[in-house]
Amino acid sequence: MTAHQAPRWLRWPSDTSRGRLAFGADYNPEQWPPEVWQDDVRAMRRAGVNIVSLAIFSWARLQPRADRWAFDWLDQVMDLLHENGIAVDLATATASPPPWLTTAHPEILPVDHDGRTLWPGARQHWRPTSPVFREHALRLVRAMAERYGGHPALAAWHVNNELGCHNVYDFSDDAAAAFRTWLRKRYGTIERLNRAWATTFWSQEYGAWEEILPPRLAASYPNPTQQLDFKRFSSDALKDYLRAERSVLTELTPEIPVTTNFMVMGETKGMDFADWARELDFVSNDHYLLTGPQAQDELSFSANLTGMLAGGEPWFLMEHSTSAVNWQPVNLAKRPGGMARDSLTHVAYGADAVCFFQWRQSAGGAEKYHSAMIPHAGTDSEVFRSIVDLGATLEALAPVAGTRRRRAAAAIVFDWDSWWASELDSHPTSRLRYRQEALDWFSAFAAAGVRVDVIGSADDFSHYDLLVAPVLYVVPRALADRLSAYVADGGHLVTTYFSGIVDENDHVWLGGHPGALRDLLGIRIEEFGPLLDGDRADLDLGVSGTLWSDRIDVTGSDVKVVASYTSGDQAGRPAITTRPVGTGSASYVSTRLGPEGLRPVLSLLLTTSGVRSELPAAVAGAVELAVRTGDDADYWFLINRTDESVVVDGVAGEVLRGPCLAAGLTLGPRQVCVLRRPHGS
Ligand code: GLA
Ligand code: GLA
Repeated sequence: MTAHQAPRWLRWPSDTSRGRLAFGADYNPEQWPPEVWQDDVRAMRRAGVNIVSLAIFSWARLQPRADRWAFDWLDQVMDLLHENGIAVDLATATASPPPWLTTAHPEILPVDHDGRTLWPGARQHWRPTSPVFREHALRLVRAMAERYGGHPALAAWHVNNELGCHNVYDFSDDAAAAFRTWLRKRYGTIERLNRAWATTFWSQEYGAWEEILPPRLAASYPNPTQQLDFKRFSSDALKDYLRAERSVLTELTPEIPVTTNFMVMGETKGMDFADWARELDFVSNDHYLLTGPQAQDELSFSANLTGMLAGGEPWFLMEHSTSAVNWQPVNLAKRPGGMARDSLTHVAYGADAVCFFQWRQSAGGAEKYHSAMIPHAGTDSEVFRSIVDLGATLEALAPVAGTRRRRAAAAIVFDWDSWWASELDSHPTSRLRYRQEALDWFSAFAAAGVRVDVIGSADDFSHYDLLVAPVLYVVPRALADRLSAYVADGGHLVTTYFSGIVDENDHVWLGGHPGALRDLLGIRIEEFGPLLDGDRADLDLGVSGTLWSDRIDVTGSDVKVVASYTSGDQAGRPAITTRPVGTGSASYVSTRLGPEGLRPVLSLLLTTSGVRSELPAAVAGAVELAVRTGDDADYWFLINRTDESVVVDGVAGEVLRGPCLAAGLTLGPRQVCVLRRPHGS
């Protein structure tokens, strides 16, 4: 899939190719006797469910022995769903190898960083690079495609499940062999690898490929470039596995689209989904609300980033939760309206499918306390009633299906290489969290009521008036050139502490920091000034920084000091600088200000770049706006971020969902309103 080509979408069994939003769940009928299946489909119809993901963890049931297959039960379920007008996103069922396989082939089990085997008993206990696992898994994929490729309920293939959820980093001998092959391809010669890895340091020079290992438990810090390359390799290894399953599927059923569920969420960082996205016919994501003060912003940020991976095209929300999960330290139930707001926020950022883990809450097993569409209490429950209500809402939102993201005027750059490399060990601070910094900027935009796109470092910057690149630590020469060109063309760039520091091999750009961006920013830093936990550095802007500060020398005669430090080691020195370049500018923020502290800074940047809120000033911050665009209209999603009612005045449009527009529009706590605004009106 490329960014500018509409992706393939579900193959609906009936004729409505695009005209509806998908609604459903992971369906695990093997956990229930067949009598319950009848109740299931009846309740699915009541709720308006039109798709389910099936067979995700069914390997042991489908292939109870190496030489025995048992498809009858799945045949029945597929038929039953089809008779009831419910389409199937069918998993290849490879996510959890059955006990007979791991008993016969313990060599498929992953090995962790410390050399410990990850034994069976949970799920995803397989090495991404194991040829033995691959042989057995692809046999199953082939069997599934042969059996169900022609089934009328089949709408899409779902490769494995959450690839890399538990097994992205495998340090086994299989991984070592595959890592060497990957390195040979990247570097060609051992000399080039030695240079890239700076192996003159600590006597690490390699004489032969066979000497190279994954960065296993070592006596001290493993070579950082080896660590970074191992992260790149591990993401690639799983991508390669994804492609292997996909090629079997496309060989046998070229007309059925292929997807897999990403985990664009929180600190899940092992997989470079920006790189994986092009392997799929459409992008899917799983997202779970994370407890904390930025929970809603994190959801919006993730949904926004998923939209970027989908190239602005619609994507599939494969899983989220109706209420509590079971895997956080404390698992909170959602408040009234919370589930619908979460679901519709995903739709606002491009989801054309709203699905949950899972349909019916399990009575046994590790996830029995995880919410579902039908909870333990049954259909006579608030959760199920709110599901029925959501089904009706999604039906009313059918006109939104197929519409694209309407680009914002500002963007936040999100880059996996910088995420991986900036958080490696033996750095000025171990406290830095790359994604958190990007999220804090997103929160500041949300508080200002300004739409912002999350984009990748390879995306075209020229669409944006304001570009925020927080902690852009890895800046290869070509990226530095693109950022300079962006500013020279009138763009307003802002970057932060620990940006522009190293090249793609994690080698420091010399001559003073931030090497790759030094001239563009017109500043020079000789020493970093990280801050101890609890320490703050105050700025004359009335905000305080934590985590980091820099000893900045201004080198460009045209550079303006926007804010200075008033306390700490850098007192009297610049904290925030900006360098006007023609009609553009390049700004630098040298400390962590957090979502609140960034607000006044962002306000200045918005003024400079001319980027404005599209919302009435009275509700900016309380209401989040996301916009989708279709052939004849825009769709405005007004999301009440607060737990209070908010009155929105002065926004016109036809209400597709939400309270009526009379004198004004009152959004109840956590409520979402969707307005249709015809083009040119
Ligand atoms: C992931 C998995 C599901 C389930 C949920 C629980 O999304 O794909 O199988 O474990 O997490 O939140
Ligand atoms: C010890 C080692 C040095 C160096 C320093 C770093 O002193 O002998 O090689 O690693 O620690 O502080």
